[in-house]
Amino acid sequence: MHKDIAEILVSELEIKEICESLGKEITNDYKDKNPILVGLLKGCIPFMSDLSKKIELKVDIAYMSVSSYHGGINSSGDVKIKMDLDIPIHDRHVLIIEDIVDTGNTIVTIVELLMHRGAKSVEIVTLLDKPEGRLKPYEPKYIGRTIPKAFVVGYGLDYDEYYRNLPYVGILDPKVYSKKESN
Ligand code: IMP
Repeated sequence: MHKDIAEILVSELEIKEICESLGKEITNDYKDKNPILVGLLKGCIPFMSDLSKKIELKVDIAYMSVSSYHGGINSSGDVKIKMDLDIPIHDRHVLIIEDIVDTGNTIVTIVELLMHRGAKSVEIVTLLDKPEGRLKPYEPKYIGRTIPKAFVVGYGLDYDEYYRNLPYVGILDPKVYSKKESN
């Protein structure tokens, strides 16, 4: 698995520091509230787990499963809800936990949907932001690290469902996908 990584972009130590710092900021910003943390499956899992432990508030935890990639390295632009929330969000402060924001298609669609359902506020915390990939304007409120436009895997992020269990985020060696993507 490690040999398919061309370069480590965010190390385990950096991820730990990001979780601590974002956790502190969120704890402070939401101090008199009890927000719902909504994780977008499956990529959010390691980040949701580590970040939520650094948020010192009573929070609800819920998940949604959405997809915009269908196995490749480019977003299809067509956001599908595969599994919906199991708790009502009306009148609640919602904090969406995302692994990466690229084109913005996923996040813009989900923010609009949750606002439409009557959330009091909807904000995004993303481990990674790829602003150069943006097709829809959206600036996440909480960003762990801004990265260049490269296809990355690890710490929840996958290529064809693999590499999610890498403990760091790295650039996938283009050799791994170039043959498949040109077919
Ligand atoms: P967006 O809708 O284009 O902003 O993309 C959001 C989703 O696409 C993320 O939640 C990821 O699942 C996936 N994605 C975007 N960039 C990458 C990447 O570099 N590696 C793996 N998945 C990515």
